Amino acid sequence: TIVVLDFGAQYSQLIARRVREMHVYSQIVPYTITATELAALSPKGIIFSGGPSSVRSAGSPRPDAGIYELGIPILGICYGLQVMSIQNGGTVERPLKREYGFADLTVLHPEASLLKGISANSRLWMSHGDAVASLPDGFIQTGSTPNCPFTVIENDEKHFYGVQFHPEVVHTAEGNQFLQNFVLGVCQANQDWDMGFFISTAVEEIRRKVGDKQVLCGLSGGVDSAVAAVLIHEAIGDQLVCVFVNNGLLRKGEADMVLKLFRDHYNIRLQYADAEDAFLSALKGVTEPEAKRKIIGKVFIDTFYDEARKAGEISFLAQGTLYPDVIESKSPSGGPSATIKSHHNVGGLPEDLKWDLLEPLRELFKDEVRAVGRELGLPEEMVNRHPFPGPGLGVRCVGEVTKERLDTLRDVDAIFIEEIRKANLYDDIWQALACLLPVKSVGVQGDERTYEEVCSLRAVTSEDAMTADWYRFPPDVLQHASSRICNEVKGVNRVLYDITSKPPGTIEWE
Ligand code: XMP
Repeated sequence: TIVVLDFGAQYSQLIARRVREMHVYSQIVPYTITATELAALSPKGIIFSGGPSSVRSAGSPRPDAGIYELGIPILGICYGLQVMSIQNGGTVERPLKREYGFADLTVLHPEASLLKGISANSRLWMSHGDAVASLPDGFIQTGSTPNCPFTVIENDEKHFYGVQFHPEVVHTAEGNQFLQNFVLGVCQANQDWDMGFFISTAVEEIRRKVGDKQVLCGLSGGVDSAVAAVLIHEAIGDQLVCVFVNNGLLRKGEADMVLKLFRDHYNIRLQYADAEDAFLSALKGVTEPEAKRKIIGKVFIDTFYDEARKAGEISFLAQGTLYPDVIESKSPSGGPSATIKSHHNVGGLPEDLKWDLLEPLRELFKDEVRAVGRELGLPEEMVNRHPFPGPGLGVRCVGEVTKERLDTLRDVDAIFIEEIRKANLYDDIWQALACLLPVKSVGVQGDERTYEEVCSLRAVTSEDAMTADWYRFPPDVLQHASSRICNEVKGVNRVLYDITSKPPGTIEWE
């Protein structure tokens, strides 16, 4: 294990991912961890992340000084370097200019542990206000840049290392080499982290935790809940009961796909609730987006709890919570309510349902969940699926949600996705979607005047859905989608392409 001490850096997760990409397990802990707690994790190495504070300001974060006595190698990055420096007798000052962007490395000691295999003038990415002004005790300077003398420093005897730049970002040309020099070279960490290993330990852990009790898992059709369900099924077989609610707001063929895959292929106990009527009658006449979301959320909860009561004695609720959710939630070790996803959390659990949470994916990043899914035999189409909102097509059927409009939208969406897959672009796109607009327009088809509905297509690229840019399609792809939609979907005679980024737009329309 390599433990990343998080000083509030936007890049802490990236550091952990880079380490896991070397097949070394890595976990993020808050910087407040005590030396004793840290030692209990038996890490082969410790990485201090960067952070937004200045070590020169009062009350800025400090790790437990006992960590330096554990005899475990430490790599400090940016703020991590600075805090390690001042705690070990060095000084940190604010240079005249803050440094942001690229810098070229001058290698002073090519044989230094962190610099093995690093080229002269290697391109680094810097982002800092403060810098080390005098070396901590026992350290030497091994690399510098024109604006920053102490860019790479080390105390090879104690195995303490520090870099002012960010090796974890792609802009640092040889960033992985620096990290490997530390993780594999200095720490000699075990490269035993792979998805097969994860699955076998997760299966044991689930069996141990669940015993002979029963687990309930809601399937959404998305990749996280699917992987969680299949993994839990691998561990406990028929002690797992899945619930799948068809809210009538699903994509074309989705309910069938879920039923076939889980019931027929995996032989998982699956309760299928066809609740289309309940959802559509609750949504009748409603056009306001938030009102729609609230109704859909409430009917979902009611339906889900009804199914849960039919499932017999249940002790655990399985959730597809991922590592980023765990880190981002304010209390990673806090009570279950802190981590239940909001659509399961509306109004809390009813009195007669008392569940513990089972979150077998909470240590994984999204790409690792996909790898686990593949390893467990889930089809590529499921594993690589674009995100889909909980309220489904309800928030893409702009205006009133009716069965007829939903059917139209399902056809439009299916053609759009099919054309994207045909052009081999599906995996380049974060999310592609179609909306049906509450507008009609005049058209001409054959010799006839038409007056029909308008749809809007949207595709975006994104890292995390917080910001997004509209996708630049080759014009042919849009051309094929547009002509097929107008020809094949009854009731649509106009197709728009949405060129709004986020912000100011959101990804969904509602
Ligand atoms: P917006 O529209 O806010 O969406 O830019 C950001 C991402 O979140 C998805 N989304 C949801 N996911 N329940 C979900 O599980 C929801 O209610 C929900 N609303 C939006 C959206 O598809 C996009 O990926």
